[in-house]
Amino acid sequence: MGYLHFSYEHVLRFISQKDINSYDPIIRHYHDLIHSRNGMGKDFLGWLDVPVDEVELTRIKTVAERIKKDSDVLLVIGVGGSYLGAHAAIEMLGDTFGYLGHKENHIPEIIFTGHHISATYNKELLHALKDVDVSINIISKSGTTTEPGIAFRIFRTFLEEKYGEEEASKRIYVTTDKSEGALKVLADKKGYETFIIPDDIGGRYSVLTPVGLLPMAASGIDIDEVIRGARQASEDLAIPTLHNNIAYQYAVIRNLLYEKNFTTEILSNYDPKLRYFTDWWVQLFGESEGKDGKGIFPAVANFPTDLHSLGQYIQDGRRQLFQTILRVEEEAETLFVEQDEENLDELNYLVGKSLNEINRVASDAALMAHVDGGVPNMVLDVPRLDAYTFGYIVYFFKKACVMSGYLLEINPFDQPGVEAYKTNMFEMLGKPGYVSKKKL
Ligand code: PA5
Repeated sequence: MGYLHFSYEHVLRFISQKDINSYDPIIRHYHDLIHSRNGMGKDFLGWLDVPVDEVELTRIKTVAERIKKDSDVLLVIGVGGSYLGAHAAIEMLGDTFGYLGHKENHIPEIIFTGHHISATYNKELLHALKDVDVSINIISKSGTTTEPGIAFRIFRTFLEEKYGEEEASKRIYVTTDKSEGALKVLADKKGYETFIIPDDIGGRYSVLTPVGLLPMAASGIDIDEVIRGARQASEDLAIPTLHNNIAYQYAVIRNLLYEKNFTTEILSNYDPKLRYFTDWWVQLFGESEGKDGKGIFPAVANFPTDLHSLGQYIQDGRRQLFQTILRVEEEAETLFVEQDEENLDELNYLVGKSLNEINRVASDAALMAHVDGGVPNMVLDVPRLDAYTFGYIVYFFKKACVMSGYLLEINPFDQPGVEAYKTNMFEMLGKPGYVSKKKL
């Protein structure tokens, strides 16, 4: 058995095993296209073999140690694929309330900005950073994206005022393209230490490059383990047959469901540490597949919290939903419900049960109810939440996403739709080179 456990018996009321099996030749065909790098978007498959430059990896670790030593906060500025992967990893693997002890452990708090244009958030952040030591990692492949660009201007100025230009320039780390974009020009001019995002790896596929690895390493995550997990996944999921490749099974089933008008997929989880991982997944699938008038709409549910909100819709609303449940087999910690003599809260029937056990029952109960309510369900069980697993499941979903995109006959690597709002915004703001034609 592989490292992950993927089960889909709860979709077989909606699609047949025969339908799934019939995809085997198509899968082999697309597998060949992916691995021979001849399919759509073939120039963006650089992540496929998890290439890692050892010299670069060592430099990332060295810089991370420097940040740990001289900073209370690492400000990570980026949007979309330039921050979601690191955010997912840090929330999944870090100590949720660790900021209470970070100073002693020399782990800086990692704070993200540049993924929005909120004056209030950034003003509050400037205030919060007044009396602490700060470094910045600005991440943008194009080097021209507006949201992180604005944030960088604000916090670069803040750093220069706080430390003086020379010291500030030693606290700024740039992750960008090797030659193009305003950010690269700025980094060269100011002498900022720079990490390169490979040409053949696009934003949302870039978490295992310096884009994700530097913030992860600075937060204390073992990035060698992340890479090891991803490499193992790249081997396990390089099998061309549908029967033996769970990434391809997942891709096929979601497309079969889509053909039956199940057009929204909910990735649900039962652990708050997975919340930002599901956000990363939303971006990966949403931006990769939603094009040419096609695509499954990716949504997220954080359970049991959302069983008390979205749960009603999932159970009883319009039947266009299917669900993939991301479960963790072995939690890092255990807590038991203890005896209370008075039992005023009437919970003594749970005495001796662990929270993990009760959480699992909640997930089984909801699964059963949702299937009865007409929602096809797949389950992906991961053994535990650690750095290796993070690398493994990131790779699993990337591989599944490319196959799923090919099955949908779209290019999973571009994002032409994102340009529409950008052009409007540039015109409305009067960016040089953009003539204002439109008004709301
Ligand atoms: O996946 C993608 O390509 C996008 O989400 C980008 O990551 C996002 O738009 C940010 O782009 P950039 O890194 O060029 O600032």
